Amino acid sequence: MNNFDFYNPTKILFGKGKIENITDEIPEGAKVLMTYGGGSIKQNGIYEQVKDALEDFKVVEFGGIPPNPEYEVLLDALDVIKEEDIDFMLAVGGGSVIDGTKFLSAAALYEGDNPWELLTEHNRVEEGLPFGTVLTLPATGSEMNSGAVVSRKETKEKLAMGGPGLFPKFSALDPTVIRTVPERQLANGITDAFTHVLEQYMTYPAGGHLQDRFAESIMQTLIEVAPKVMEDQSDYEIASNFMWSCTMALNGLIQKGVPTDWAVHAMGHELTALYGIDHARTLAIIAPRHYEENFGSKKEKLAQYGERVWNITEGDMDSKATKAIQKTESFFHSLNIDTKLSDYTDNYEETAEIIASRFKERGWLGLGEHENIDPDKVEEIVKKAY
Ligand code: NZQ
Ligand code: ZN
Repeated sequence: MNNFDFYNPTKILFGKGKIENITDEIPEGAKVLMTYGGGSIKQNGIYEQVKDALEDFKVVEFGGIPPNPEYEVLLDALDVIKEEDIDFMLAVGGGSVIDGTKFLSAAALYEGDNPWELLTEHNRVEEGLPFGTVLTLPATGSEMNSGAVVSRKETKEKLAMGGPGLFPKFSALDPTVIRTVPERQLANGITDAFTHVLEQYMTYPAGGHLQDRFAESIMQTLIEVAPKVMEDQSDYEIASNFMWSCTMALNGLIQKGVPTDWAVHAMGHELTALYGIDHARTLAIIAPRHYEENFGSKKEKLAQYGERVWNITEGDMDSKATKAIQKTESFFHSLNIDTKLSDYTDNYEETAEIIASRFKERGWLGLGEHENIDPDKVEEIVKKAY
């Protein structure tokens, strides 16, 4: 096991009815910017619950943060923060609203003239304007980590930022919120969380026995709840296990002391930036081909995953590893998630070259746990995903 520091200061308020407890977590007298998305919270009662909890605070609202939070929209919110002298923010939404709010947290204190630099040369953030979250969609883990991903239509870019200054102060996780989540987003949530675990697990054996078991148990739980949550969104036991699995998949815990990959996300983000494909679906397009292309260096962990998560007991290591990739792809299909780029766009032909040249320009010359996935290999993987 490698050495590590583990720090996660986000307070979790988990369970039915917990949204009302946010009142006690916000500093007294704070002027709060409440951020949200396209309006789903106004149809499912979450808006009212939050407004009730904020009764004793001065509140300014900023709605309309779109999926894949858009830089231009966030700049409007930044103006509001400055004009209104906001000193706390509350993000009410899924990963997009939370990530958008993290960007605002950093941008509100940023001293440079161009906040886009927070996604490029200054993307490690030590200090941000404090904020909490009310999660409405289990998927990204953003509610308990310090990362954010922001998109920019103008340049078709999607880039990440993060750092110790961007952990939410608290997050309210009430599993009953999933009752109104559209099926497509539930499938996305399961796929995204599952792939988060894969990115932190599917590398090479590193003696992290407990980390491996954590990762495997999150994947097993997601596999178990997936069909049930799709079938009945009002089953509280299933909803709560689904929600907590998504949070645990990316709150930093399982990646401590072990190597991580994250190449699937790097390639996937480009597919969203170029074609607007839902984040989780881009991962399902890339992951199986990435594991096939890097079979040699990943097969031990692939076989372990095959045995422990999918109960593949027959055959040698290569055959177990191959079957494990097939099982993973079938799992995505079982959620009605297509795994070929051409299922999403007819316009795919130059995609691999475009992504490889973007990575070259950015100096991303060695992705993955061995830092050996160069732009040529990226091109191969993306081509295989057509
Ligand atoms: O905008 P509203 O009206 O709220 O509707 C949203 C949106 O259309 C809807 N929704 C959310 N909760 C709902 C609901 N509809 C009905 N009932 C509810 N309770 O769902 C749609 C999608 O929401 P979005 O926030 O975009 O989804 P998700 O949580 O999957 O977030 C995706 C974003 O997170 C980033 C992705 O790249 C993408 O931009 N990620 C963030 C990560 C992080 N910060 O750690 C890690 C991930 O790998 C990922 O990259
Ligand atoms: Zn993800």
